[in-house]
Amino acid sequence: MKDLSKPTLDPALAERLGAVHFDGMKKSIVGLKMVAAATRDGGRAMVSLVLPSPEHPQRAALEADVRAALTGLDGVTDVELKTSWSVGEGDFSKPPIPGVKNVIAVASGKGGVGKSTVASNLAVGLAQMGAATGLLDLDIYGPSVPIMLGKCETPGVLPGTEKVVPSEAHGVRFLSMGQFAGGDKAVLWRGPMLHRMVGQLTAAHWGELDYLVLDLPPGTGDVQLTLTQTVPLSGAVIVTTPQEIALIDARKGLRMFDEAHVPILGIVENMSWYDCRKCSKRHALFDEGGGARLATEAGVPLLAQLPLVADVADASDAGRPLVLQSDSRHAAPYHQLAVHVAAAVGRLSLNRSPFRVFQ
Ligand SMILES: Nc1ncnc2c1ncn2[C@@H]1O[C@H](COP(=O)(O)OP(=O)(O)OP(=O)(O)O)[C@@H](O)[C@H]1O
Ligand SMILES: [Mg+2]
Repeated sequence: MKDLSKPTLDPALAERLGAVHFDGMKKSIVGLKMVAAATRDGGRAMVSLVLPSPEHPQRAALEADVRAALTGLDGVTDVELKTSWSVGEGDFSKPPIPGVKNVIAVASGKGGVGKSTVASNLAVGLAQMGAATGLLDLDIYGPSVPIMLGKCETPGVLPGTEKVVPSEAHGVRFLSMGQFAGGDKAVLWRGPMLHRMVGQLTAAHWGELDYLVLDLPPGTGDVQLTLTQTVPLSGAVIVTTPQEIALIDARKGLRMFDEAHVPILGIVENMSWYDCRKCSKRHALFDEGGGARLATEAGVPLLAQLPLVADVADASDAGRPLVLQSDSRHAAPYHQLAVHVAAAVGRLSLNRSPFRVFQ
């Protein structure tokens, strides 16, 4: 069998490709092992590139750079590019969840800012791009994922084991606290019980996943603490609304992950403005620019600004996250959010040397 860890590289092509960089990374694409093959057949150069995420904002720029680097090289007249992708693994300083490459927490200090909306659209958006994706709803007091994905069944158990088998909706494997405990019944979760439940759900029979998105409850309490202590998180997405009161809580959330050495993938500002159905104008509801200020202050990207629109809530209530509804003009920002989160996770995996796509 061919050893993929040793890509076939024509030396002259490899030398030129050794000067091509991706997404502002220090190492070249050869050093990052993003070139799976580079061969020649007369005047034709054939290059296989491997991106760290299914879609990437820098893909076109990379392909243009590769073409420019090779065109004109000693008789090369034609460059044939094949670009594929492979999601790298997170940095597992804690025991990994078997088969799960990356765990992404969607969090905020404050309630009601849109965590579950963002988490569901993010998970469905990642799955739409072709990534194997799961969504775990850890909100014990207000689980909303079963409603947002339109499926409320009680999950089964893998025969002969105690492993819960996730349900599936819109191409996403999911589990929610709401599928247990009778859904609408109020349950008082005490520390050790909560710890066990979080453990059991994260250790469910997820199978092979590129991304497992976690929808967290508001605050910086027991669930968040248990998670950061026991689950290897690739990164956290912090959701906030633009007004100061939400930013204060978002900052607390951000600090909690930072102290636990969980990389912050970026900030999502939700309800940035109101998009009126009748007059089609934007109306600022709260202070403007809060998400951008928080992102600048923390030195992390602002991943998206999402308007308050009735379509979003309608789609969630109907169990079909808006990202699925390509005829809605409001779906695109959710797709872009998924692209940027995947790229941010990819960036982290590339930065960890060696990038493990070939293993
Ligand atoms: N951009 C938006 N436009 C319109 N409605 C929205 C938007 N974002 C969220 N909502 C609605 O606001 C409500 C709260 O959103 P969501 O449940 O996602 O927040 P949350 O942060 O998860 O809340 P909790 O802290 O209770 O878990 C929901 O009814 C949701 O449909
Ligand atoms: Mg929620």
